[in-house]
Amino acid sequence: MSNDIEVTMQEDRLFEPTFEFIEQAHIKSKGQYDAMYMESIRSPEKFWGDIAEDFTWKKKWDQVINWDDAPVAKWFDGAELNITENCLDRHLETERRTKKALIWEGEPGDTLELTYEQLHDRVCRAAAMLREQGVKKGDRVTIYLPMVPELMISVLACARIGAIHSVIFGGFSSGAILDRVKDAESAVVITADGGWRRGKTLGLKKIVDDAINQTDIVKTCIVVQRAEVDHEMKSGRDIYWNDIYPAEGTAFEAETMKSQDPLFLLYTSGSTGKPKGVQHSTAGYMVGTHTTTKYIFDMKDSDVYWCTADVGWITGHSYLVYGPLLNGATIVMYEGAPNFPDFDRFWDVIEKHKVTIFYTAPTAIRAFMKWGNEHVEKHDISSLRLLGTVGEPINPEAWMWYHEKIGASRCPIVDTWWQTETGAIMITPLPGVTSTRPGCATTPFFGVDAAIVDEKGNEVPDGKGGLLVIRKPWPSMLTNIWGDLDRFKEVYWSRFAEQGYYLAGDGAVKDKNGYITILGRIDDVINVSGHRLSTMELESCLVAHPSVAEAAVVGFEHDLKGEGIAAYVIVNNGFTQSEDDKVILKKFIAGEIGAFARPDQIHFADALPKTRSGKIMRRVLKEIAAGRDIEGDLSTIEDIAALKKLAASAKV
Ligand code: WT7
Repeated sequence: MSNDIEVTMQEDRLFEPTFEFIEQAHIKSKGQYDAMYMESIRSPEKFWGDIAEDFTWKKKWDQVINWDDAPVAKWFDGAELNITENCLDRHLETERRTKKALIWEGEPGDTLELTYEQLHDRVCRAAAMLREQGVKKGDRVTIYLPMVPELMISVLACARIGAIHSVIFGGFSSGAILDRVKDAESAVVITADGGWRRGKTLGLKKIVDDAINQTDIVKTCIVVQRAEVDHEMKSGRDIYWNDIYPAEGTAFEAETMKSQDPLFLLYTSGSTGKPKGVQHSTAGYMVGTHTTTKYIFDMKDSDVYWCTADVGWITGHSYLVYGPLLNGATIVMYEGAPNFPDFDRFWDVIEKHKVTIFYTAPTAIRAFMKWGNEHVEKHDISSLRLLGTVGEPINPEAWMWYHEKIGASRCPIVDTWWQTETGAIMITPLPGVTSTRPGCATTPFFGVDAAIVDEKGNEVPDGKGGLLVIRKPWPSMLTNIWGDLDRFKEVYWSRFAEQGYYLAGDGAVKDKNGYITILGRIDDVINVSGHRLSTMELESCLVAHPSVAEAAVVGFEHDLKGEGIAAYVIVNNGFTQSEDDKVILKKFIAGEIGAFARPDQIHFADALPKTRSGKIMRRVLKEIAAGRDIEGDLSTIEDIAALKKLAASAKV
């Protein structure tokens, strides 16, 4: 496989942090980074133990890292805590009590600001509400909400009572909700009547009903009234948040949790089968998200921090909710679309709230570029001092635009590589230290022993592509796939079982300075606008449609989305293959998984290009989708005539 990883790197521009930035940064020099990194790798017990001293523990740990049951890590083994005491209560004893924790802005323009004291109060009330509904420690609570304050509050309320939250991104369809609710055996769902997107309302309750009316697992559905969308309420099951949310504040005591107790599940696509419930634990995740936020975003009390990710993704969990709250930051949360009411909405938010740190996705940056500089130039965004990107490789052109137009050629850019599974950022520049290179995630964060290896697990020479692995446990690592320890071991740890390496699933290359560039997935996972999808999952969805006999799905380079989705379909006898049929299939996928999974291209085929051993040649399908001529060795293809026909019909 590693032989297939092609490396073409011409980018050699380097951008150093400004003197002004360095002077005020938490970490100011390469020497300081090197010393800390060295300690974190050589003496993780000391490094992470010292950091953990600063948190509120109900009981301190016996051991910083217990790796006896590898690959299940027990960070801060023996400790007891509640993460919300560290996100909230801890700050109430300081000046942060009256500091803004949350500046929320709804798409229609309504706003809400909460101080740490007020957020604490709301979380305590929501925790009391959930307890009243019978939610207990260890129960799973599914949250399917738009980006409203109740989303952050619900997440924290679950953590406060020790319930495991499972947030589902509001773009997922009822099929995806049903799968997740069943897998997690979640008896409680929190949703809203609807949410705002691009000036229109989206009926979330209806989507939830289509899922939970098909199962008797869900006993309680709590409904936030947000967008006045018509909906039904099933008596005995559905209740309004406002009807049960206590009017008076209560000092709700935080449940005592063991360091390994699951904090949340977050479902994500793998290369095979159904989405997996990635399980994160309490103590390690807390220390990991806190430390990465502090150093990578150079977080200070004076900052106003905005991460544009939805809480439904891991970026929202770690860098919109937990990481910034653990640092006592002021967080901006925005409900809606970047182009409503106009293309300048994000710059308007930055100007209005004087945002200093801005974290977004390459796909958004590419859209901003397309919309034009005039929308940016209308606003004073000089409050910005640090920029970040996440979710997919950033093309150098988009990086340069971000640097010049948003960062005024002054703000460092942190291109952060990590995954749902890693819980926190793993490979990234440190803003006061690293000379950045467009498109390059640069160096490992503290405690991250990243290596690029060949099939056998041996490190490849600099400049040669290989498989990205992590060789040592890190605090925020996943601890299981919900209910499926075997799958957890198989997916991430079986490839290099002997060495005990974590297989990230990405290809990467390191240069002679130790800078790591991520080359993209090595498995059948595709990354569409920073959203992770499995080609297998899309294929099994397609063949579930009565008209489809066989399907193959590939990703292809897409100007805006990074990767687009192309589906090749063979229809069953008697079914037509018209443009309307393509639309029907696109809608079908959007309905089964979510709108973001809608294919960009559907190609009807007589046969799929297969080798004589029956393997679909995806490389060929990718080239057709990208509009390129098919090159390379085709001698192993079984039905070359069908392939030629397919390629010719795709061109017209
Ligand atoms: C996959 C993980 C981590 C939060 C959002 C995505 C790709 C992520 C980068 C980056 C190149 C990146 C990888 C990774 N990815 N960040 N900075 N440069 N690729 O989380 O849905 O779990 O997806 O996203 O391929 O494996 P996710």
